[in-house]
This record gives sequence, C-alpha cells and structure tokens, in this order.
Amino acid sequence: MKAWSLLTGLMAVLGIQAAAIPDQVVKRAGLTQVQNFGSNPSGIKMFIYVPTKLQVKPPIVLVLHACAWTANAFFGTTKYGQLADQHGYVLIYGQTPTDGACWDVSSTQSLTHDGGSDSTGLANMVRYALQKYNGDAGRVYVTGESSGAMMTQVMAAAYPDMFAAASEFSGEPAGCFYTGSVRGWNGDCAGGKVHKTPADWAAQVHKMYPSYTGQYPKMQIFHGDVDTTLNIASYNESIKEWSGILGYSGNPTQTINNYAPNLTKYIYGEKLQGIWGRGVGHVVATNETEALRWFGIMVRKLPIPDCRY
Ligand SMILES: *[C@@H]1O[C@H](CO)[C@@H](O)[C@H](O)[C@H]1NC(C)=O
Ligand SMILES: *[C@@H]1O[C@H](CO)[C@@H](O)[C@H](O)[C@H]1NC(C)=O
Ligand SMILES: *[C@@H]1O[C@H](CO)[C@@H](O)[C@H](O)[C@H]1NC(C)=O
Repeated sequence: MKAWSLLTGLMAVLGIQAAAIPDQVVKRAGLTQVQNFGSNPSGIKMFIYVPTKLQVKPPIVLVLHACAWTANAFFGTTKYGQLADQHGYVLIYGQTPTDGACWDVSSTQSLTHDGGSDSTGLANMVRYALQKYNGDAGRVYVTGESSGAMMTQVMAAAYPDMFAAASEFSGEPAGCFYTGSVRGWNGDCAGGKVHKTPADWAAQVHKMYPSYTGQYPKMQIFHGDVDTTLNIASYNESIKEWSGILGYSGNPTQTINNYAPNLTKYIYGEKLQGIWGRGVGHVVATNETEALRWFGIMVRKLPIPDCRY
C-alpha cells in the first residue's frame, strides 16, 4: 500500500511537470477534494478543478480514471485542466474508494439509476457542481479510460437525463460487466464472449432507468484492434448497444480513414461515432481535444463570450 501510494504520488508529480513544460507560463493549481457532495453509498472520492475564468453557466466535465490509477495521477497526465482554463468549464475527477480499485460496473446497484454504489455517488458529484457553480444542466459530459470508460457508458445509460454526451477510451458496453456483485470482474465480457443483439443491449440499458422516456446522450467509442485486456469484440458490442438505444442501423454512414495516426473514425449517426485503432492496444490514449469537440465545448474560439473575468 505504501509503495503504491509512493508510486502514484511520483506519477502525479511527473505528470504535472510533463504537462507544464510545453506551453504553460503560469503554474496551474491542482485538484481540490470535496468532502460533502451528497449521498455517497460506496465512499468514492470527489476532486474538482474550477478555473479562475469560468463561464457564467459553465459546462461540467466528469473524468474517470482506470483501475490502478488515482484522480490526481490522471489529472496530471491529461490536459483537461489547462483546457478548462481556456474554455471555462468545471472539471470533476472521481476516484474509487480505495487506491487502485476499479469502478463498480457490475452490481445491480451501480447499474440502476439512483440505485446505490459508485454511479449514485458520481451522479451526486455532478448535482453538487451544477448547484454550487450555477452549471448548465444541458451541458454535462462524462469521459474515462478502461474501467473509467466502462463507467462512462454506465453513467450514460443510468443517467441519460444528466449527460448530453459521453466519450470513452477502451471500455465495454454498459451492463456487459454485470456479475451481481460490487466491483466484480466479468471474465466473459472482458474476454469478448458476451454477444447480444442491439435490441437486447437496448433493453438492458432501459432496465437501468425504466421510467425514463427521454433522449439518450451522444456516444463516442474508442477501441484498439490489438487490445488484449478488454477484447476487441467490445467495440462492435458497444456500437450495437448504442445503435439500439439511439435507433441507428449499426452500419457506418461515413468512414474517415486515418483521421489521426492509426485511427479510423466511423460515423453511425449524428449521436454515435466509433474510433478504431489499428495496431493500438489497451488503452487508446485519451484525446482531450477530440472528446471536447464531441462535447461541443471546443467549438467556440477564445475569448469566451459569456466569460466572468
Ligand atoms: C465488427 O463488425 C464489423 C462489421 O460487421 C466486422 O467486419 C468486424 O469483423 C467485426 N469485428 C470483430 C472484432 O468482430
Ligand atoms: C501504430 O501502428 C503501428 C503499426 O501497427 C504500431 O507499431 C504503433 O505502435 C501504433 N501506434 C500507436 C500510437 O499505437
Ligand atoms: C486528437 O484528435 C484531433 C482531432 O480532434 C486530431 O487532430 C489529433 O491528431 C488526435 N491526436 C491523436 C494523438 O490521436
């Protein structure tokens, strides 16, 4: 445990320095932990970054780390902090209850709207931030890597009323990891043995919030074709799930080859796209600008018109 804390602490320090070298004159402040953000059944941790120049009704971006990571380590190696300085959104990094733990994407509680466990705690972080910073409830977004990518899909499925868009890097379809136990490991799902029709996936998602009849978030799925941690079948299953929910055929309407090195983008409809990495393993590296473009945050040019200086 001690050695682990040391390692993650070191990673955080190195990450922050690496991010600070190229284009930063002023040193950016770090994350602040928020203690009382509402009901938190599984004891997860909330960290926040609120830039000095905040939009009057700021968007909220929720970022979720992989297994064996912490909020601070992930903050240090991603650019969402410096991009928050430029674009004036509120940034939340969630953290699992114990160092190194994965997100709970396997229990009935977490796979149910306000059903308990990690998903309820994360939803309450967003509700807290919306209220405290006069956030724009129509511009709330979630993203993550690996376990955080799985949780990204779970949040989009269980809280479709909360999120306008999601972007996930190397995860699994929401519900695929179900085991009935908290923080369970579903070897069949990870091994690419769970295959469902779009209608069956959609039914599983609707069961997470049965009374909900509104729109579901936009979904962006990244996966690499030599991923041996979460089998590459995950990509097609995720596309089937969100095609089923969003009412798309599941066949791409547009293909953009090599839109970035090794990455091909498939567009399935206005609200669904997949990015397939050739020769890319676990994970497809977070692309902050691509995610923020998908969210619609990076459309406007600086200076931010409705910015509070
Ligand atoms: C995913 O689906 C596409 C289109 O049907 C197919 O060509 C491809 O082989 C599938 N990938 C995997 C890993 O099953
Ligand atoms: C891109 O693909 C090549 C060849 O398949 C591979 O060696 C390389 O590691 C890949 N790059 C990234 C960033 O994954
Ligand atoms: C990230 O996405 C942008 C487009 O939003 C693209 O231009 C860039 O090449 C991508 N970077 C990587 C490392 O894939």
